[in-house]
Amino acid sequence: MKANLMKIRFLIGILVIFLGIQLWGSCAEEVPSKGEQLYMAYCANCHGKQGEGLAALIPPLAKADYLIQHAEELPCMIRYGMSGPITVNGKEYNQPMLPLKQMTVEEIYEVSNYVLNSWGNEYRKLYQQEIELYLKRCAEKSSDK
Ligand code: HEC
Repeated sequence: MKANLMKIRFLIGILVIFLGIQLWGSCAEEVPSKGEQLYMAYCANCHGKQGEGLAALIPPLAKADYLIQHAEELPCMIRYGMSGPITVNGKEYNQPMLPLKQMTVEEIYEVSNYVLNSWGNEYRKLYQQEIELYLKRCAEKSSDK
């Protein structure tokens, strides 16, 4: 009798540990990073959830040659917008991107690193201090005009 009870207790113990691990694993997977949350809030409407772009209107970010070649300009694109024709992966786009002035430096830092390292993109990390520097430089440029 006693031995059976021990066995049952042991099995329940194993089950609880197993369920715990499952639960913990699924929670860890489902919480998106800060950068991803910001991307979904500020960029995905136009550029698509997977950075795929929108037909001939909005260029892709996933594996976009333009993005990787202009990675250090990304913070300024986000804060000040951009306009004029550009070529992305061999296709021309020419619709203005509006500035996202409400995004803080920290948010620009998070979202930039998310975009530069998602959907097959591989770039080095941009540091928050360098982003501040880029933003300062393009602020000076835009006040020169
Ligand atoms: C209202 C729609 C819209 C939103 C929101 C938007 N973009 Fe854009 N984005 C555009 C358009 C349109 C262009 C093309 C600009 C041009 O033709 O000069 C563009 C161009 C770009 C480019 C350069 C081209 C390329 O594909 O590499 C990058 C990088 C970019 N956007 C990143 C972002 C990021 C990051 C966000 C969010 C923080 C964002 N955009 C939010 C519409 C948008």
